[in-house]
Amino acid sequence: VEESRTSSQEEIDSLIKSLPKISSWARGHYYKYEGYWYWENILRPILSCKKHFRAQNSDILLASFPKCGTTWLKAIVYTIVNRDKYPVGSEGHPLLTNNPHALIPAFEFYVYVNNAIPDLSNMPAPRLFATHSPALSLGDEVTKSGCKIIYICRNIKDCFISSWHFVNKMRSLGSDTTSFYEAFDSFCRGEDIYGPFWDHILGHWKMSLAVPERVLFLTYDHISEQPNHYVKKIAEFLGCPFSVVEEDEEVVDGVVKMCSFNHLSQLEVNKSGVTKLGHENKLFFRRGETGDSKNLLTSEMINKMDQIAQEKFSPYGLKL
Ligand code: A3P
Repeated sequence: VEESRTSSQEEIDSLIKSLPKISSWARGHYYKYEGYWYWENILRPILSCKKHFRAQNSDILLASFPKCGTTWLKAIVYTIVNRDKYPVGSEGHPLLTNNPHALIPAFEFYVYVNNAIPDLSNMPAPRLFATHSPALSLGDEVTKSGCKIIYICRNIKDCFISSWHFVNKMRSLGSDTTSFYEAFDSFCRGEDIYGPFWDHILGHWKMSLAVPERVLFLTYDHISEQPNHYVKKIAEFLGCPFSVVEEDEEVVDGVVKMCSFNHLSQLEVNKSGVTKLGHENKLFFRRGETGDSKNLLTSEMINKMDQIAQEKFSPYGLKL
C-alpha cells in the first residue's frame, strides 16, 4: 500500500505541475484540470479518488456546484434512504446530532484527504458519497457504473452571492469591495473554484437527459418552491418511493420539516459544532432563501449574470 501511495503521489505531483495555473481572488492559485479550476488541495484528493474509487451499482453520489444546496440535499437523501432504520422525526435520528456533511462524506474533503486510500468495500449498501467535482471528471467508475447521481445547482446570482459570503467567512477577511468586484468578474469568466459554473451545470444536465434513470438533475430554486414534490421524486429515483401508508402518515412532510433550513440551522450541532476539517457547521446555514442576491448585486451585475445564464443555458432548454 505504501509503495502504491508513493507512486500515486508522484504521478499526481507531475500532473499538477503540467496544468495551466491562474491566481485566485480568494487564495492561492487555481489549476485547470479537464476544463475545471481547482485549488491544489482539492485537486489532489479528486485525482486520488479518480484513480482509486471503485463504484458499486448501489452507490448514491450527490454532486453539486458549491453553495447550491449540498447541505440540504445531503439531509434529504440521508433521511429518505435511512428511514427504515431511523424513522423520520424520531428522537435518536442522526440528523439531530450530526451536520449533514458528516453523514454523507465528500470525496475531496473527507474520503481521499491526506493521501489516504481508504478501503470502502465493506461499507453497507447503499453507500452515500458527495463531491463538488463534476461527476464526469471522476471517470469511468462513476460514469459507466450503475451508481446513481443526484445533482443540485442553483440560479447563478444566488450561487455567486452565497459563495462570496462563504469564502469570506472561511478566509476571515470580511467583505472588502475590491474583492467583491474581482470575485464577480472571475465568476463571470468561469475562473472560480470548480468553475466554469455553466459547464459544470451543463455537463450534468446533458447527462440527466441522456440517462435519466441514472442522473437526477435538481435545482435549489425548484426544491424551495415544491419541497414535498421533490422529496417524493428523489425517493422514486432512488428506488425507495413512499408507500401509501407513509403518505397517509405524512412522512414526506416529516422529511421536508426535518430537513428545513429553520429546523437544521437551530440544532445545537449546527449552531456550535465544527466539521472534521475544523470549519464551523454554522457556515453552511446563512439565509436559506432564493433571491437574496438582489440585495447585493447592482442592476448592471444582475443583467450581466442574467445574460450569461440566458446565453449558456437556453440553447440546451435549461431555465435557471
Ligand atoms: P445562502 O448562502 O443563500 O443562505 P451548500 O450547502 O451547497 O454549501 O449551499 C449553502 C446554501 O444553502 C446557503 O445559502 C445555505 O444557507 C443554504 N442552506 C443550507 N441548508 C439549507 C436547508 N436545509 N434548506 C435550505 N437552504 C439551505
